[in-house]
Order: sequence, then C-alpha cells, then structure tokens
Amino acid sequence: MCGIIGYVGHEECAPIILEGLRRLEYRGYDSAGIAVHDGQALRVRRAAGKLSVLGDLLAREPLRGTVGIGHTRWATHGKPVEHNAHPHVSGGIAVVHNGIIENHVELKRRLQAEGRVFSSDTDTEIVAHLVDLATQRGLSLFEAVRATLAELRGAYAIAVLAGNDASKIVLAKNASPLVVGKGDGVMIAASDVPALLQHTRDVIFLEDGELAEITRDGARIERLDGTPVNRPPQRVHWSMMQAERGGYKHFMLKEIHEQPRALEDTLRGRVLLEESDLEASELGVTPEAARTLKRVVFLACGTSYHAALHGRYLVESVARVPAVAELASEFRYRDPVVGEGDLVVAVSQSGETADTLAAAKEAKERGAQILAVVNVQGSAIARMAHGALYTHAGPEIGVASTKCFTAQLAALTMLALYLGRRRGALTAERAGALLTELVAVPHKMRDALADAKHVEDIARAIMHARDALFLGRGLSSAVALEGALKLKEISYVHAEGYAGGEMKHGPLALVDRNMPVVCLLPDDSTLEKMLSNVQEVRARDGNVIAVVNTEEVAQNLATHTIKVPRTAEEFTPLVTIVPLQLLSYYVADHRGTDVDQPRNLAKTVTVE
Ligand code: F6R
Repeated sequence: MCGIIGYVGHEECAPIILEGLRRLEYRGYDSAGIAVHDGQALRVRRAAGKLSVLGDLLAREPLRGTVGIGHTRWATHGKPVEHNAHPHVSGGIAVVHNGIIENHVELKRRLQAEGRVFSSDTDTEIVAHLVDLATQRGLSLFEAVRATLAELRGAYAIAVLAGNDASKIVLAKNASPLVVGKGDGVMIAASDVPALLQHTRDVIFLEDGELAEITRDGARIERLDGTPVNRPPQRVHWSMMQAERGGYKHFMLKEIHEQPRALEDTLRGRVLLEESDLEASELGVTPEAARTLKRVVFLACGTSYHAALHGRYLVESVARVPAVAELASEFRYRDPVVGEGDLVVAVSQSGETADTLAAAKEAKERGAQILAVVNVQGSAIARMAHGALYTHAGPEIGVASTKCFTAQLAALTMLALYLGRRRGALTAERAGALLTELVAVPHKMRDALADAKHVEDIARAIMHARDALFLGRGLSSAVALEGALKLKEISYVHAEGYAGGEMKHGPLALVDRNMPVVCLLPDDSTLEKMLSNVQEVRARDGNVIAVVNTEEVAQNLATHTIKVPRTAEEFTPLVTIVPLQLLSYYVADHRGTDVDQPRNLAKTVTVE
C-alpha cells in the first residue's frame, strides 16, 4: 500500500504535493518522492525515511513548477532506500505507482534484453520504461500509457508525467484506489480523498480499467478499450479526520474492512493457479531445503503467535513436516533444542518485536534457517533472516492487529502449501483445488463483512458482560484465542480462548447465564465434537453466540447466530475471524474505550 498524488494547476505545486502526501502517510511512510515539471524539464527529489526527510530535502533544494506528481511508499518490491523511492524515471517519463505488478520479472527481463538499464529493485520502474518506449514510437502520453497497461498484470494506480509536456498528467487504475478532484483551474488526483480536500470537494472515483488525462481545465476519462466515460463529479462531505479514516469511525474498523484487499495483495503474484503451485523465490528456502528440512519452528508473540499456531497446524497437516509454535518471549529462556535442519519462521507484523527478534537470533546462532514473515520491509527481523515472505497488508495503525493477522494467515498458508508440494505430500490436483479456493477467500471475507450490522446488534446485547469465552477446535482453536485477545485488549472485558475439548477440564465451572460463549462451528472435521462441547455449555445456561456456515447447526443451541460463507477447512480462520474482530470492535466502541490506542499497550513492542 502506498499513496500517490498528481497536481495540475496554477500554484507552486511542491508544497501542495507534500501536504497531500502528509494526508496519505497512513498508507505508507518508509520513503517518499516528488517530480515537478519546471517548464523545461522534469526535476525529481526522493528520500528514504519519513516524509519529513523529503520535506527537509525540498527546503534545501526546492522545486519550482505548477505540475507534479508525488508518492509515499510502503515497500513491497525492494528495500525502503532512496533508489527504490518513487517517482521512477526513464527517459523523459516519471511514474508513481501504488500496487503490485505481477509480471514485472518477465517484463524486466525482456526490457533488459532490449538494452534498458534499471536503477531500482522495484516493479514500478518497468512502467516508466514501457511508457518511455511507447512515446519514442510516437504515441501520445495518453496512448503510451494505454499501450503499457495492455502489458501489465496486477494491481496499480499510477500517475505519469512527461518531460516534454507540462500541461498534463495521465492516470490509470486497476484494483488500487484513485480519485480525481476537480477545482477551479486545478485538477488534483490522489489515492484517497484526504489529499484533495484542501483544494476541492468535487471528486470522481476512477473505476478499475479506466485511464484519465488531467489538465488545468478538466479530465478526459476512457476505459482501456477506448470507450469514453462521462461520470460527473460527486461532492464529499467528510471532515478531514473522517476522510483519513476512509469515513470509518476508527482506524481499526477501517482496517477490518480492508482485509479482503490486504489478502488479495498478499496472494498477488505468489499463487500460480496454472501451475497449481506457489512462487517462492523470496523464501530463502530452496526446493532442496524444503524437501530435506526436519522441522518447522514458528516464533511469535500475541496475535502473531495465533497466526503461528495456524501455520504449525497447516505445515503438519498439509506438508507433513513436524512443526511447533513457540511464544518468542519464552523460547530463549529454556535452552531450546534448535539448529541445523530446522526452519525457524519468525512471524511479526512490525518486524521489530524485541522478543521475536531475540528468539530468532538465538535460533540463527544455533544453525537454523530463518524465514521472516513480516509486514514491514527492511525491519530488523527481515534483515536478520535468510529469507522474508512479506505480508502486503500496508501500514496498520490501530494498535489491535486485524488485517495483518489475516495477511499472516495467508502467508503461512502459502508456506505450508509450498512445502507440501516440494515434499510430495500435496498432489498437484489437491494443490490446484486449494489454490483456486484460496483466491476466492477475499470475496467470502467481503460477504462476512457485509453482516457487520448484525454483529453490532449482538455486541450491544453482550456489551455489559464482565467475562467472555471463545471456543473452537482444530484450526478454529487459534481463532478462539485471537477472538478473546481482541476483545480483552480493546474493550477491557476479561476474555479467554479455549480449545473446545478443554472446557470440561476446568473452564466449564465459569459458565452461567451471564457468560457469553462465542463458539466457532464451521462445517469442518471438528464440527460434531464441537457441537458436543457447545451442548455442555448450553446445559449450564451459557449464552451461546455461534459462528456457523449453516444456520441449522446452531438451532436450539445459540442465543445469537452469525453465518459466514463456507470455505475449505484450511482457510476457515480467514473468514471466521472477521465477525469476532467486528464483535470486539463494537463491544469496545459501545463501552466507549479508546479503540485505536487501548490503555497500557503500544503498537510496536521493542522491549523484552
Ligand atoms: C494484538 C497485537 C499484539 C501483537 C504483538 C506482536 O492485537 O497486535 O499482540 O501481535 O505485540 O507484534 P508483532 O506482530 O509486531 O511482532
């Protein structure tokens, strides 16, 4: 996730673009850049680090001009260093891009064979080269962009500026957001509305497969096939703060709703449907190492530990490799047996959690291969690991992890499938069926999110509870732990997650009519056993909230039922966690707690 902006007007645009980028910083903040046409040529300034570093650079080396583009980056391809910061320039073309170009490797190879020299590790730079080549063939900028898009596969919102034309910017969108604002003698486009609000409230949201040319006087929009688009601007009434949260009341709610997109971005370019396999060059785990490794050890804390439990389960069941998941905070203090033949997977949203970093270092010193599954490029854990499988969730601002959790589940699922294929534990046919289902999961998440109002009603009914239980079996036991953690950390309601079968060994004593018990009852291999556990709860008058695929399952058992779409058993947590996140959110919101910054907690825990 990154933020892009383009401005064509009458004012000096560098400060305007910088301010717009500041409004988009929630989308990415590891490096930034800006290109301005000064009337004669393109001038570019780029800097690694927060936007303030670019601001300082512009103060020392100002840019003058009234047409320009800008970018704030959340690295996906290539480290967050200056040469990977956007805009990327080739010949007379500058490009900023948000998204992931899936076929960038093959395009780059072809362009290099044609003699093109690349100066970054990004997928974006190929766009600059392709547009430059097309303009050299005599196409207008608009047509050159159109011709380039025909070659791209993946997600993009791009803004393109040419050195030989200071009157326009060309934009295009597919699966990444882009909105065009129409002011008085000024057009400004950006990834999100907050970047435009100081200039206009009249906006046109571009649709997938559309490209646009903006000049001071207006916008010309067409579909890729040349069909003209005449969509009048609409007026937005959000306050700046509402706009920054996409109209949601809290970042956490916004991030819960961003999950289908985060999942799509994490799967993009890695799921190879035609080959029934996964692209795994980032892993640092060669096919040979995948075949011969003896054990997988997952290390993580908090929510990431719950994702690790999911990884452990799938690596064992799908790849048939012995696997354990360990709390990183405990791992180092028991002189663990770990070393050669072990693949240690350090799972962390921030990539900076001190416990996880220290545990992974310890394992590395003892000879284990380290794989980082992290969301932040270039973070400490990513740097110390032999390989990194990045989750592409974009920055997470709410302290409670939501979209990064589901992106971790997806990454670890891909790891398990990759190992399964290499080790022969998973046939191509089964892998093909699973991968086809996996790419359908974001749609199922969207369906689950569409039920938010119903979940809010349930939250209202249980919001005064002092305690709550979450139960699940198999893969759902990790979901139960995560559901309980979400509830306690943001609403301060005491909550416990349990494997359903454990109830009778103690926790059942807690159950009475005041106890909400959230039961995960997807149609999977554990359903029958789980139903027996729910009967035990019902017999003690527990207030059952059932998460099901089929409503009949919970008849006569549940006070409240939440139905979510069915998926393959291996992917069920990606869908069932959604109502649990929403439930926690609404309980907390109705109780009036500080949802995005709960008391006593920090987003990144860099102390042991
Ligand atoms: C809970 C939460 C924390 C983190 C934990 C590890 O919502 O966010 O439990 O999961 O502090 O953080 P990372 O994943 O950054 O290592």
